[in-house]
Amino acid sequence: MKAVVCTRYGPPEVLRLEEIATPVPRKIEVRIRILATAVTSSDCYVRGLNLSLAYRLMARLALGWNAPRQPVLGMVLSGEVDSVGPDARSFAVGQPVFGFNRHRFGTYAQYVCWPEDGLLATRPANLTDEEAAAIPYGGLLALSFLRKAGVRAGQRVLVFGASGAVGTSAVQLARHLGAEVTGVCSTANVDLVASLGATTVIDYTREDFTDRAERYDLIFDAVGRRKSTAALRRCRQVLAPGGACVSVDDGRPKLRREDLVLLSELATKGEIRPVIDRTFALDDIVEAHRYVDDGRKRGNVVVAVA
Ligand SMILES: NC(=O)c1ccc[n+]([C@@H]2O[C@H](COP(=O)([O-])OP(=O)(O)OC[C@H]3O[C@@H](n4cnc5c(N)ncnc54)[C@H](OP(=O)(O)O)[C@@H]3O)[C@@H](O)[C@H]2O)c1
Repeated sequence: MKAVVCTRYGPPEVLRLEEIATPVPRKIEVRIRILATAVTSSDCYVRGLNLSLAYRLMARLALGWNAPRQPVLGMVLSGEVDSVGPDARSFAVGQPVFGFNRHRFGTYAQYVCWPEDGLLATRPANLTDEEAAAIPYGGLLALSFLRKAGVRAGQRVLVFGASGAVGTSAVQLARHLGAEVTGVCSTANVDLVASLGATTVIDYTREDFTDRAERYDLIFDAVGRRKSTAALRRCRQVLAPGGACVSVDDGRPKLRREDLVLLSELATKGEIRPVIDRTFALDDIVEAHRYVDDGRKRGNVVVAVA
């Protein structure tokens, strides 16, 4: 099969399209024919290890010292079950699925074998594979942190970084949960964030949200602490009594299969929609990584695996 292989850590150019053996599903694994994947910000961290020294050392220990032990990167997929292991019972051959796996990787390829009990669910029938590949990463991360923060109907929630993969999901999910959402983003993304259901959108290039009189029950930093620290320095000043400021970088998210099923249902009902910035071909994976490395994508960057 065709796969993109990462043979060492480094810039996007370390990624190479190669022919490698097609994997065979073991015991409770299913093999998925991948039709679309996504280049996430996490993929770029794994490839480039552009992290602080302490995190880089931990990442090398976890992922492989000189190169990723699993050389085919990619955590997100949409496609169809192509073959099932001898003890796998949950999925049938031909079933359309989408999912996320932050430990096994392997989705920059035509096929991957994942355990059937992982973050894998039936793809929303109304979405194309490319659209479905734009749901799991931001959706699961946003749900995890919104739940951790205990978001409830009627709360005033501010999403800082409302235009990224996590941010566009957080705006839609917080609104779905009944919150009144304020999104913060740059000028080019104001209309997008409003279209996702934010009742107020603040352009941070023109205005500091902490200068406003509004108070918030939750401020969710969807950009990540390395970039958001300066902008959020004064965020506690605009918290309502009992309010909280939570970052997408606060600890490891709890990613749950039932949340993927929920995201599938919400997408089917049109309660959430995928936000795709650009779609690349698998052959153009280097260019896709360069684009995501810039840190300015709107929503998701999807890769069509024909
Ligand atoms: N805890 C975990 O285990 C975990 C796992 C995965 C990811 N994360 C974190 O989640 C973060 C977000 O991921 P993502 O994929 O959603 O990111 P993303 O899609 O790359 O987010 C990019 C958005 O951030 C905004 N942005 C970039 N630089 C900014 C700045 N200096 N100030 C304000 N806004 C800025 C940009 O919007 P504008 O152009 O509109 O400003 C852009 O749309 C990652 O960077 C990582 O820190 C954490």
